[in-house]
Amino acid sequence: MKLSDKEKARLKAKYGEWAVITGATSGIGLELAVQLASAGFNLVLIARHLDKLQEVENRLKANTSIEIKIVNVDVSEAEGIDQIIEATKGTKVGLLIASAGYGTSGNFIDSSLHSEINMLRVNCEALLSLTHYFGQHFANQSRGGIILMSSMVAFQGTPFSANYAATKAYVQTLAEGIAVELKSKGVDVLAAAPGPVESGFSKRANMKMSMSLTPSQVGVPILEALGRKTTVLPGLLTKFLVYSLRTVPRWGKVKIMEKVMGGMTEHQRKKL
Ligand SMILES: NC(=O)c1ccc[n+]([C@@H]2O[C@H](COP(=O)([O-])OP(=O)(O)OC[C@H]3O[C@@H](n4cnc5c(N)ncnc54)[C@H](OP(=O)(O)O)[C@@H]3O)[C@@H](O)[C@H]2O)c1
Repeated sequence: MKLSDKEKARLKAKYGEWAVITGATSGIGLELAVQLASAGFNLVLIARHLDKLQEVENRLKANTSIEIKIVNVDVSEAEGIDQIIEATKGTKVGLLIASAGYGTSGNFIDSSLHSEINMLRVNCEALLSLTHYFGQHFANQSRGGIILMSSMVAFQGTPFSANYAATKAYVQTLAEGIAVELKSKGVDVLAAAPGPVESGFSKRANMKMSMSLTPSQVGVPILEALGRKTTVLPGLLTKFLVYSLRTVPRWGKVKIMEKVMGGMTEHQRKKL
């Protein structure tokens, strides 16, 4: 999918000149970077691996005349956040996209506590730090947009990916609250809550996902929702999955997610 010219102009006028994107080298973050580059945004691209950042920079520069800064840091480290803030000083940033994130799966008590805490740092702490910093910055300039990557699993407990779902519940709840606080200051906040998307995510999370959407099916709906909604369920499949659970009581949703995530992690139990 591509942004219409009208939509490109709306986004640029409301949230330009620069967008800061964490997790910009793969999956959803990369798709959002590609779409924003086509709309003429200058980009600060963030991920851990420098070679992948350079690849994305070269690809985007080959097709556009935008400016790009790359920042190769681990956002789970406080110095990583400091480096991002330093790199964006003096730059007219109007949009933050916090897409860096990952999942874990399997039985909670069998997982590595170290990995679970690291995931909490990437999915929640880093997102909190950047949202706080850019939220203040955008409020001071009376304009800006913030897109936080939530997930379909944010809306109920999810057996076999319990801590990942809990990190996304945090993101969803934070976004809903600050969207109200920041609206009067001219800042739009959006929680983007997709279902399964084909990307580097499933391999790192050790999940076998089926019925996945592609990043290009979710990127444009996410950007189109910014400034119009507080939560977007991008793609028809995501809407179907979430809306069909809307009337189910929370304990019932947990039961359904037990089946869904149980299926996605069945290969782990077969190995035992
Ligand atoms: N894919 C799905 O099914 C799905 C569904 C719902 C929500 N989400 C959420 O959407 C977001 C994006 O996921 P995705 O599917 O695009 O995943 P992905 O393809 O694995 O991309 C993750 C991106 O984050 C970067 N990253 C990971 N850890 C990082 C760290 N510690 N510091 C800095 N950058 C880091 C990665 O680059 P490096 O490895 O080089 O650091 C990569 O650019 C995540 O928050 C995820 O939870 C995904």
